[in-house]
Amino acid sequence: MLPVVVVHAGAGCIPKEQAKVCSSGVRAATRGGYTVLQEGGSAMDAVVEVVTQLENNPLYNAGCGSVLNVKGEIEMDAIVMEGKTLGSGAVSAVRRIANPTQLARLVMDKTSHAFLTAEGASQFARAMGVPEVPEESLITDYARMRWKQNLAPGANPVECQMGKMGTVGAVAVDKDGNVACATSTGGILNQMEGRVGDTPIIGSGGYADNNVGAVSTTGHGEAIMKVTLAKLILFHMEQGQSVEAASDLALAYMKTRVQGLGGVVTVDPHGHWAARFSSNQMVWAAAQTDTLHYGVQTGEHVTQSIDNPH
Ligand code: GLY
Repeated sequence: MLPVVVVHAGAGCIPKEQAKVCSSGVRAATRGGYTVLQEGGSAMDAVVEVVTQLENNPLYNAGCGSVLNVKGEIEMDAIVMEGKTLGSGAVSAVRRIANPTQLARLVMDKTSHAFLTAEGASQFARAMGVPEVPEESLITDYARMRWKQNLAPGANPVECQMGKMGTVGAVAVDKDGNVACATSTGGILNQMEGRVGDTPIIGSGGYADNNVGAVSTTGHGEAIMKVTLAKLILFHMEQGQSVEAASDLALAYMKTRVQGLGGVVTVDPHGHWAARFSSNQMVWAAAQTDTLHYGVQTGEHVTQSIDNPH
C-alpha cells in the first residue's frame, strides 16, 4: 500500500467553472508529491513539495493567490509536522514570502521552537536567506476584486468566506511508514489584521503521529479550532475507527456542535487514506500504487493512471 500522498485544496462552494482547473492543479501537485516518494524521499519532503506547488499556483488561497485581509494585505499561515518525532514547525501572519510552508519547515529544522509569528517570523526568514517578494506579486486580480466586493455596503462576509476557502494541504506516508502533514493558507477573506485561523495551530490545521496517522484540514478556522479537528480524527482512529469513519465522525461533530463545515485528508501509517468533507465540495486527489484518485463533489471518485497528464 505504501507510499501514498493525499491532497486537498480547500472546502467550500467552488464555482463550476473553477472546479475543473482547480482539480487539474491539485492532481499535478499530487503527482509531484508521489514522484518524491517514489524516488525515496520522506513523507515530509513529499508534503512540502505538494504544498509548495499549490502555494505557487494563483488558483488557491495560499502563497500567491491568498485572500486579502480587511486592509487589502496578505497575511499567511502554515504548519508542517512529522510523525516520527512529533516535530512540528509553524508560522502565522507572515508577509511577503512566496512559500510559508518552507518557512514552517525551517522553523522545525533550524530552531528549538515550534511556532514563529509576524515580524519575528520575517526576521527568521531573512536570517535563513528566504527571499522577500513584493506583496503585489502575491496578490491576484481575483483576490483584489473579491476584497473590494466584500467591503461594499451590504456585503455578506460569511457568504463570501464560504465562496473561497482554498486552504491547501497534504498528508503522506513514505516507504518506511513515516507520516507527515503540511497545511498552508491566506486565511479568510477580509479577515481582521492579525487574525490567525486554525491552519498553523497544532492539532487543528494538522497533526502527524507515526503511532496513529496524519491529518490536514480545511474549512472555517474558528470552528476547526473549537474542536481541534485534526487531533479529534486521530483520537477516533486510536479508538479503532477507520480513517474514513474517524474523519466523518469528527466532521459531523464539528457540524452539530459548532455549526462548522470543512474537509480533511487523513492517512494511517499502513497507507489507508481518506478525503472527506462536510462542505458542498472539496477539491482533492490521492496517489497510491501508480493510480491517481480525485474528486470535487460528495461521492465523486475518479481514478486514472498516475502517468496520465490530464
Ligand atoms: N482554514 C483556514 C482559516 O480559517 O484560516
